[in-house]
Amino acid sequence: MLPEIRFITGMERSAQMEMVIEDTLAEDVDPLSAMATVAAYIFSFMERVNWAGFYVARGDTLVVGPYQGQPACMRIPFGKGVCGTVAEERRALRVDEVASFPGYIACDSATRSELVAPIIINGKLYGVLDIDSPEPARFNDDDLRLIQRVANLVAKAVEKSDAQTYALARSV
Ligand code: SME
Repeated sequence: MLPEIRFITGMERSAQMEMVIEDTLAEDVDPLSAMATVAAYIFSFMERVNWAGFYVARGDTLVVGPYQGQPACMRIPFGKGVCGTVAEERRALRVDEVASFPGYIACDSATRSELVAPIIINGKLYGVLDIDSPEPARFNDDDLRLIQRVANLVAKAVEKSDAQTYALARSV
């Protein structure tokens, strides 16, 4: 459950968020539940954020997954926008001013800066974690490293959960 976060500030807030997410994903969770819950935690913990959520790889397209915020575009081809670039290059990106990012896809016109990290499982791209802010240069390199660690936690949870799904399927 959500701890009392109103009084926690700055780095401590990020550390708390990471701890809570790690604890939550230590349980055996379904990928859908994991992504929905992580999106909700990020949106609750991080200040000045207007969108937090997941895009999942389907062939060479990303489709929107669980998120918090305004309705967003449902499909993003690999290589397009920030999310598509991260999907193709498989490295996290911090964009301080989205208007200057080539091919940027505007889902919410309020968004000014963005963080995106890839979720890699066994060398394959599962999806990306995307966080948007209405404030230019809202995020720093600590935030970028933080969301990559969160993306890695999601990758581990999904991997674990898939194994469980296969185990159940075999026993039917
Ligand atoms: N702006 C993103 C698209 C996703 S939305 O921001 C939720 C991009 O260019 O990848």
